Amino acid sequence: MSTYHTPVLLAEVLEYLAPRPGGRVVDATLGGGGHARAIAERLAPGGELVGLDQDPDALQAARTAMDDLAGRVGVRLVRANFGDLERALSAEGVGSVDGILLDLGVSSHQLDTAERGFAFRYKGPLDMRMDPAGGAETAAGLLNRLSEEAIARLLFEFGEEPRARRIASEIVRRRAEKPLATTEDLVDAVRGAMPLRTRPGEIHPATRTFQALRIAVNRELEVLEAVLPQAARLLAPGGRLVVIAYHSLEDRIAKQTLAALSGKRIGTDLPDLAPPPEPVLNVLTKKPVVPSAEEVRANPRARSARLRAAERR
Ligand SMILES: C[S@@+](CC[C@H](N)C(=O)[O-])C[C@H]1O[C@@H](n2cnc3c(N)ncnc32)[C@H](O)[C@@H]1O
Repeated sequence: MSTYHTPVLLAEVLEYLAPRPGGRVVDATLGGGGHARAIAERLAPGGELVGLDQDPDALQAARTAMDDLAGRVGVRLVRANFGDLERALSAEGVGSVDGILLDLGVSSHQLDTAERGFAFRYKGPLDMRMDPAGGAETAAGLLNRLSEEAIARLLFEFGEEPRARRIASEIVRRRAEKPLATTEDLVDAVRGAMPLRTRPGEIHPATRTFQALRIAVNRELEVLEAVLPQAARLLAPGGRLVVIAYHSLEDRIAKQTLAALSGKRIGTDLPDLAPPPEPVLNVLTKKPVVPSAEEVRANPRARSARLRAAERR
């Protein structure tokens, strides 16, 4: 397996997507192409894997990972944001499909590349854009521009950070002296707002702050809310949708949106989410599928994964 990213819940993704020879499946979060390759092998002969990612590094890695499949199965890789899934596929002349995979969040490659600025443990520019050429504002841009109140809200809503107000106030105090520019500047600001000693077993004090910023910079919750109804519309009858979420905010959106699209209404967090006039999906996973202890031991980054699947009626 490549070092770019180890695919999570691979056997379970294949079980729920159930790709068949001749079928057409969209992997809307290609990353290093680990899932995509395994899916494409099952679409041969004659099928087609359409892969999307907004990060050019991912497209290159996935292309290399699937190079040798040429001639056995069609592989089409497209740079796009999955928030525009219907538009991106229609531009490729792709109508309905048999399966769609959304393996959310960032790849190990993105996390471990210091210059991308995603990780508090590496020194790098405070960037965090999955699509560096897409024109979105960087994490540093946001933190140097937003009001203290808006930063506190962002950290609380997207990071569930209990010390959001203190961290926001420390960021605003520091940026008045010198704008934040690096991951280290942000880690120092978080530490400056925290008690000196953290208890053993506690997560790194900047974990929630970095998660919150990444979600904000890439509008992760917005694009997830946008893509799920599009995915449901794109599926042919019997087609499958698989979503893997890595934190409670995205899992809640996946759970409630799939329920709404299957004609049920659960939870009240997303009040605008009314079931469509005609239910279009059947949810296949009563509870989220989680990785085995063995998988988490082999790949600790899998530990928070939650897979949900649905079938088009
Ligand atoms: C967890 S990784 C996927 C790993 C992949 N399944 C594999 O096996 O290597 C998520 C990928 O989705 C991409 N991504 C996240 N949000 C996206 C979006 N809104 N549009 C397009 N790509 C996105 C990221 O750039 C990243 O490469």
